[in-house]
Amino acid sequence: MNILTFPTDAELNEAGAGIITGLVQTKPNAVLGLATGSTPIGIYREIIRTFRKGMVSYKQVTTFNLDEYVGLEPSHPQSYANYMREHLFDHIDASPDRLHIPNGAAADPAAECARYDALLDGCGQIDLQLLGLGHNGHIGFNEPDHSLVRGTHVVALREQTREANARFFDSIDGVPTHAITMGVGTILKAKTILLVVKGADKAEIVHRALTGEITTEIPASLLQTHPHLVVLLDAEAGRLFR
Ligand code: F6R
Repeated sequence: MNILTFPTDAELNEAGAGIITGLVQTKPNAVLGLATGSTPIGIYREIIRTFRKGMVSYKQVTTFNLDEYVGLEPSHPQSYANYMREHLFDHIDASPDRLHIPNGAAADPAAECARYDALLDGCGQIDLQLLGLGHNGHIGFNEPDHSLVRGTHVVALREQTREANARFFDSIDGVPTHAITMGVGTILKAKTILLVVKGADKAEIVHRALTGEITTEIPASLLQTHPHLVVLLDAEAGRLFR
């Protein structure tokens, strides 16, 4: 496990984008696992900046997003499909047919999960999985539980997660109750995992997850078992590692 703490947000974002663009420069057909939420926005911005400088092309890259809300059409402003277009996909030269996000509006969500897993299997292995961290230790939308699911599945969102994400909606009532998420087994199968955590409100959970007991009650604690885990923290989130 390689834990790096950065004094400024700009330096963290540059480092995160550097790891991703460096991979794509050396492996143009890399398979990337992508995350949404507030955390990676600055990294995506930096990726776009280096793309505009002509430093890297994403034409052959395949991507798989971690999750999507059940019940939201891809065109919904708060869907993760829309987030990805807005924050990354519309600004780089990626091939739309290689960009995968679970379809939250699928009539049969269980069949959609099976379809997503088949796509993932067809791609072999994710080269780099980008992750944020939930306040309760979730990764993707794998919420704390007495057991965790290996593959893509439908999950009921915890109240704490819905409250945390209500800031993106008009009110908490608008936040979907369920999501489709990649499973922890798929996440752990990635060759490299890049966990990014920002903010004082996550200092305790990231410290517990990476130094405490490995337990399904803190899904991110399973990342301790991964042989190639890189963790990028801002000064606030990294406070307890000093
Ligand atoms: C998003 C995701 C979630 C977020 C986590 C942190 O695709 O899978 O696990 O990474 O909820 O969200 P932010 O970054 O908004 O604090």
